[in-house]
Amino acid sequence: MTHGFDLNDRLEQREAQNLRRHLEVAESVSARTRFADDPKGEPPEFGDEAVVFAANNYLGLADDSRVQRAAELGARTVGTSAGASRLVTGDTRVHRGLERDLAASKGTERALVFSSGYAANIGTIDALAPDVVFSDELNHASIIDGCRVGASETVVYDHCDPADLRDKMETRAADVDGDEQWLVVTDSVFSMDGDIAPLPAICDVVDEYGAWLMVDEAHATGLFGDSSGGVVQREGLSDRVDVQLGTLSKALASQGGYIAGDEVLIEYLLNAARSFVFSTGLSPPNAAAAREALRITRETDRTAELWDTVATLRDGLETMGYEVLGETHILPVVVGDRDDALELADRLRDHGIVAPAIRPPTVPEGTSRIRVAPMATHTADDIAQCLDAFRTAGREVGVL
Ligand SMILES: Cc1ncc(COP(=O)(O)O)c(C=O)c1O
Repeated sequence: MTHGFDLNDRLEQREAQNLRRHLEVAESVSARTRFADDPKGEPPEFGDEAVVFAANNYLGLADDSRVQRAAELGARTVGTSAGASRLVTGDTRVHRGLERDLAASKGTERALVFSSGYAANIGTIDALAPDVVFSDELNHASIIDGCRVGASETVVYDHCDPADLRDKMETRAADVDGDEQWLVVTDSVFSMDGDIAPLPAICDVVDEYGAWLMVDEAHATGLFGDSSGGVVQREGLSDRVDVQLGTLSKALASQGGYIAGDEVLIEYLLNAARSFVFSTGLSPPNAAAAREALRITRETDRTAELWDTVATLRDGLETMGYEVLGETHILPVVVGDRDDALELADRLRDHGIVAPAIRPPTVPEGTSRIRVAPMATHTADDIAQCLDAFRTAGREVGVL
């Protein structure tokens, strides 16, 4: 008798289903970089330079010298690690400064930073412990996992469909006697479809039932709104969204997550969110880097270059005959068949473009796609190379 685990067997099953993933070493996080085929070499042997259209470093700030200097200063003056949970000795002035700036950018009373956006989602949903979470069907995995952690019941509503949300709330209200606490959760920008949740209409439904709304702005913070606060702030909804959540790891070029909301929400979470209480505070260099990136996004029009790049790429791809979904900086190029999408991604790579194939189960069968994520630091040459590669590779694979 054996009670161990056969992990080789599990990996082989993933391999057989085309679901096995591999790590690949990048030389840097710049828009142009080199990758190593054999990551075991030390130092790795990097191949030819490729242009990356696959990162969430949307504003290209992760290798910006001002952000790098801020991280260095954070490490030198405060330390490389918070050294303990924020509730023990890990609460520093760098954290407080970042939280003040995040709250100002979001238009809320206060903010609280976590060690990742994933931790912020899990910890917050678990701590709120709603009776029911109403969750958009395309919400991010960290929201889904947050719904699974506690004893809440999850009701999934159709993607970006406030009418379906209302129907599901009505059904629940009719089925249950007495008061329940309901949390509605949605991404603002959806990372695989590049579309935006209809937040004003969702707020109306949420208000009708006196529920709470939590919005995940991971892909919007730093990119939308006058003060870079995201879609909630752009739409003037800061007072109607109870919990604003996001990550410091995308446009803000760092690592970590945050919650923004009113005083009592933050005071409650710092007591009750287990991923905050029982985890070492965000590292000071990461907090300092995110704060500087936020300052840059608020004080300079960093997004203008990104939107120009997005418009050129969308137009070029559509003119070639590709279907491009969404309305944001994320350009999902629909291919359809999962094998075609994989082959197209491979061919793009042969032409020096890194853009991942997104397949089921991440997206529905028949809608496999290439997710093109431009960065503000892509040059005209990078964009031209991307469009040329899509034209040539698309013909090679037979999808054009
Ligand atoms: C919508 C959304 N929420 C949360 C997260 C998690 O953020 P983090 O990478 O900081 O854990 C991500 C990112 O991967 C995301 O796309």
